[in-house]
Amino acid sequence: MPVIAVIGAQWGDEGKGKVVDLLAEKARVIVRFSGGDNAGHTVVNPFGKFGLHLVPSGIFSSHAVCIIGNGVVINPAVLIDEIDLLNRHGVDTTRLFISDRAHLIMPYHTLLDGLEEESRGGKAIGTTRKGIGPAFADKVARVGIRVGDLLDKETFLERLRYILDHKNIILTKVYGVSPLSLDEVYSQYCQFGERLAPYIRETTIMVEEALNREELVLLEGAQGTLLDPDFGTYPYTTSSSPLAGGGCLGAGLGPTRISAILSVFKAYCTRVGAGPMPTELKDETGDLIRELAHEYGTTTGRPRRCGWFDAVAARFSTRINGFTGAAITRLDILDTLPHLRICVGYKLDGKTIDYFPSSINALDKCQPIYEELPGWQVPTTHIREYGQLPPQAQQYITRLEELTACPVNLICVGPEREQTIQVKPIL
Ligand code: IMP
Repeated sequence: MPVIAVIGAQWGDEGKGKVVDLLAEKARVIVRFSGGDNAGHTVVNPFGKFGLHLVPSGIFSSHAVCIIGNGVVINPAVLIDEIDLLNRHGVDTTRLFISDRAHLIMPYHTLLDGLEEESRGGKAIGTTRKGIGPAFADKVARVGIRVGDLLDKETFLERLRYILDHKNIILTKVYGVSPLSLDEVYSQYCQFGERLAPYIRETTIMVEEALNREELVLLEGAQGTLLDPDFGTYPYTTSSSPLAGGGCLGAGLGPTRISAILSVFKAYCTRVGAGPMPTELKDETGDLIRELAHEYGTTTGRPRRCGWFDAVAARFSTRINGFTGAAITRLDILDTLPHLRICVGYKLDGKTIDYFPSSINALDKCQPIYEELPGWQVPTTHIREYGQLPPQAQQYITRLEELTACPVNLICVGPEREQTIQVKPIL
């Protein structure tokens, strides 16, 4: 009964979509367990190129059941659009299921996300403005509305009336904007409920049954470890846990069930939105990486901040997730660079430190200490065997393996499924 969790090990956008798409060939169940449509998982396969926001990247595998778990917040309009898009491209979505416990993103969540960001002025988080933070805040404040609530229209109306009254006070009195109409929100969400009803299930039973049949289950993470609200660069984080531990909570299975925790590291670092990033390159190398890799957000189109691989942050990520292996993605992006740098420590107030500080003020002051390695300056996108990689690329991977304390299982040298080097088995 193997379970593999696929976890973003940096600030998100590490290429988890491609890794899940690859592993999905062998999996029977794939569960998205956190975040919402702030995520954008790019998958390139024979069906085409897709930027998936909610539907698990395993949907392209003809035998896999795909679950949007209880830990996800769902904007039903976005989900319905995504299902329609997949169907138009001939992708079967009858194997998609949504946990009845997942919370809904309501129109006031998206509105408030934007209004709160504007009110933060220069201290804006740079959220995706998809309503993620407000929806998770309501979940823990116990004023959320869950997907399962849509199936009982009377209770839904009663709950929506009570919550919307309060939200309208905030919208009108705090932010001075127009209130939302109960009738409009109610009728729109009832339509969403009718459309989504065939997909809504008690999904933990489906996961347990697959495990009892000894089938492979994948937990598909969203965002990255350094955006975790506990361990990330708080408050410049997202609002649900992208960690392996979050996988148990957001999919509904116990920690003893997880057999492997595969980290996904990009061969360099990127970050989108505000907050500290010690190895950020605000120079032509950073611009070059952005353009070579087309580092622009899948969800918002914003340019991503690019920088060298941060092994201090990576080791921290390994520690708090318990990674058992790694997928290194986008190695090919470094193909033309004459030399590469890896951050192996930070200089903070004149002292050398080897840990990732919890304070963003401290992290902001951290100066990276770099180790320099030679580049390989030949293309790698056609390579499928580890031994065929140029020696400098092998040296780079070996050093990442040592510094992250994480054996490398897979290396990606391009966006297509086959542009992958299998180094070691994951299980
Ligand atoms: P939110 O999740 O929309 O509230 O955004 C909070 C922070 O997380 C912002 O810095 C976003 O740019 C970042 N973020 C959210 N989702 C992703 C993602 O999928 N990839 C990368 N960054 C993300």
